[in-house]
Amino acid sequence: MNVVMIGSGYVGLVSGACFAEFGAAVTCIDVDQSKIDQLNAGKIPIYEPGLDDLVARNAAAGRLQFTTEYDPVVGAADLVFIAVGTPTRRGDGHADLVYVYEAARQIATHLSGYTVIVDKSTVPVGTARQVERIIRESNPAADFDVASNPEFLREGAAISDFMRPDRVVLGVESERAEKLLRELYRPLNLIEAPVLVTNLESAELVKYASNAFLATKISFINEIANLCEHVGADVHAVARGMGLDGRIGKKFLHAGPGYGGSCFPKDTTALIRIAQEHGASCRIVEATVEVNAAQKARMVKKIREALGGSESGKTIAVLGLTFKPETDDMRDSPSLAIIPNLIDKGAVIHAHDPQGMREAREQLPGQVKFFDHVHDAVTGVDAIVLMTEWNEYRGLDFIQLKKRMNDNVFIDLRNVYESAVMKELGFEYFCVGRPA
Ligand SMILES: NC(=O)c1ccc[n+]([C@@H]2O[C@H](COP(=O)([O-])OP(=O)(O)OC[C@H]3O[C@@H](n4cnc5c(N)ncnc54)[C@H](O)[C@@H]3O)[C@@H](O)[C@H]2O)c1
Repeated sequence: MNVVMIGSGYVGLVSGACFAEFGAAVTCIDVDQSKIDQLNAGKIPIYEPGLDDLVARNAAAGRLQFTTEYDPVVGAADLVFIAVGTPTRRGDGHADLVYVYEAARQIATHLSGYTVIVDKSTVPVGTARQVERIIRESNPAADFDVASNPEFLREGAAISDFMRPDRVVLGVESERAEKLLRELYRPLNLIEAPVLVTNLESAELVKYASNAFLATKISFINEIANLCEHVGADVHAVARGMGLDGRIGKKFLHAGPGYGGSCFPKDTTALIRIAQEHGASCRIVEATVEVNAAQKARMVKKIREALGGSESGKTIAVLGLTFKPETDDMRDSPSLAIIPNLIDKGAVIHAHDPQGMREAREQLPGQVKFFDHVHDAVTGVDAIVLMTEWNEYRGLDFIQLKKRMNDNVFIDLRNVYESAVMKELGFEYFCVGRPA
């Protein structure tokens, strides 16, 4: 089966490489020449565990190739996936569909024989029908169907998520399209991955509803953590007590600095806009977004209070910059909201991240000093803020760290460490929603 993946970013590259691993002949296209040059030189432009081996193996087997050209691969394809970005549109919170529509226009001119065009990008309800209209207008003779196949992989665990998904959602309206998509995903029958076939609109909405629900769980537990601080409860115990209820589940009940990343912030905002456009209410998601913004502000306040009421003149080591561990993705990371606030109030920031510093250098204010080693980052600082719970921060030599610090304040925004242990080590320890 010939598959073309339009967009070779976090989703397109992982999906393309995984489809190749399933046995399809896959071509990943991207407009970014440097990305394609890197891929053709055997380099992976993003950090995603296991992706280098997967890409190398399938490229060597001749099942995976990379190009900037739609022609001739789109003409030879059975399935063309659109996996381009759908960022927030400046000014109004809508998903920006310019990249999706541009891809559709380019696909249209190269179609030949029956082809299924599949939206894998996260797109508002109605987008598949717009893609269909664009292709029909550009190429009235084309023989094609449009389908929706939203992607649920998580960065940092993207390959196992793709290879062992909780579900595959297929929005299809023709038997031919369904047959081809089922054939492509057939290797997942072995592990009995559920395949949900719906209409286009339902498939598009499953993705937004899922992300909004997960974001809501995070905002919910962050509000409960805040309440815990007022009443002397421990959010760990509360979350565990809740999560043991099978109807609730324990995942996404970790208090922290608020959600970030390439999906939850933009998808919650887009869902609110979709609802508004259709005259429907979406108040729970609106509250989720508000609570998330407030949580980041609360973290700035927490750091200020831990520093005795003012950040001015203080040097703070921030450990972890990405929105979660095991990715280099900095999009909408809480660090991008919290660090500039601290700098505005006169703090000096020393930053460290195992994979995110290349991107962070571009996105954070010039005053931030970046360090390749944690020991250097913490030297002479008044406080450490753990922003992202990378594994390498779990086993730090705290006795050595403390010796290098100017003061002993440790603010754990991910609740990774035990208060009693940190106090015994001599730190003044602060965390989120747990008794000090
Ligand atoms: N990143 C995730 O964890 C994740 C998970 C599930 C769904 N999604 C969704 O998948 C989509 C892609 O996200 P991403 O994180 O992979 O984005 P990304 O920015 O990493 O990748 C998008 C790629 O598309 C390329 N592109 C743009 N226009 C193009 C065109 N006309 N032709 C060819 N290439 C083009 C860009 O150069 C870029 O490399 C988004 O809608 C996102 O919401 C992302």
